[in-house]
Amino acid sequence: MDLSIEIGSLNLENPLIAASGCFGYGVEYADVVDLASLGAVAVKGLFLTERLGHPPPRIIETPAGMLNAIGLQGVGVHRFIREYLPQLRDSGAVTIVNICGTTIEEYEELTRILSDVEGVAAIELNISCPNIKAGGITFGCNLAGTHDVVQAAKRATHLPVIPKLTPNVTDIASFARVAEEAGADAVSLVNTFLAMSIDVETRRSKLANIVGGLSGPAIRPIAVRMVYECHQAVSIPIIGMGGITTANDVLEFMIAGASAVQVGTANFVDPYIWKKLMVGLNDYLEKHKIKRLRDIIGTLEVDLAEEA
Ligand SMILES: Cc1cc2nc3c(=O)[nH]c(=O)nc-3n(C[C@H](O)[C@H](O)[C@H](O)COP(=O)(O)O)c2cc1C
Repeated sequence: MDLSIEIGSLNLENPLIAASGCFGYGVEYADVVDLASLGAVAVKGLFLTERLGHPPPRIIETPAGMLNAIGLQGVGVHRFIREYLPQLRDSGAVTIVNICGTTIEEYEELTRILSDVEGVAAIELNISCPNIKAGGITFGCNLAGTHDVVQAAKRATHLPVIPKLTPNVTDIASFARVAEEAGADAVSLVNTFLAMSIDVETRRSKLANIVGGLSGPAIRPIAVRMVYECHQAVSIPIIGMGGITTANDVLEFMIAGASAVQVGTANFVDPYIWKKLMVGLNDYLEKHKIKRLRDIIGTLEVDLAEEA
């Protein structure tokens, strides 16, 4: 069965990508899964410099999901290039680097630095992290900001640029459209939903940061709807994510219009999930006598109600 898909100039062997922030810098999972067998690995969001992130508690379990407020802890781009990228390169992983900045210039500089090294396949612009005060989501919740960050990144690289959209907006399709106009090669969606949870005995938020981002199966139907809306709005490829735990979930996103998917929270529950997803996709193609997985992208059947 042919599971290969295309994201602009990127040819991936299959549509399964490890989601940023849920798979470390990839190399931590090398004993668990052959990194080269994944469609790609999106590494933890990187700033120009190292960051400690927020104090704990930073993760709590919620019904059918989790809340996190990590605050983009990370080693920074230079240490990543020195200490992690060589191993990723040797593993044969297709590496997507997720970047975050507080200014447009920072995004541009990060993009330029990463374009000059060997082993980076694409840049994912995190303009959607709900857990930091400055930058990131400020751009992602603003049409002009989204446009300008994408344009600046495109100026700085020959690599595919993939802005990652936030679901914390009223009309996500308009953000996909603006990203496309600014030259994005694809869009990825969704990042986490701004949320909170309170301990009623102490009357304190369960997260030190008070609010955090909701992920996992709880958000999946909303994420699928958003992928569907964006698919109607743009012609660049869409990378869908939000609560994927089974091959059926992958197929749901693809039928709604995603060319590829990312799997995040499910890694914390079952790091061996990839094999199960791969087998499930092959079984589906066999059962439905479809030769190429990519033929199901955006094939949602819709019975349009007759106009009254
Ligand atoms: C602990 C944690 C850390 C995350 N860190 C990042 C990050 O650094 N950059 C980013 O773009 N998204 C980050 N995300 C968002 C995920 O990549 C993904 O968009 C979101 O969790 C929805 O997918 P899921 O339900 O499969 O987890 C993080 C999510 C979690 C749970």
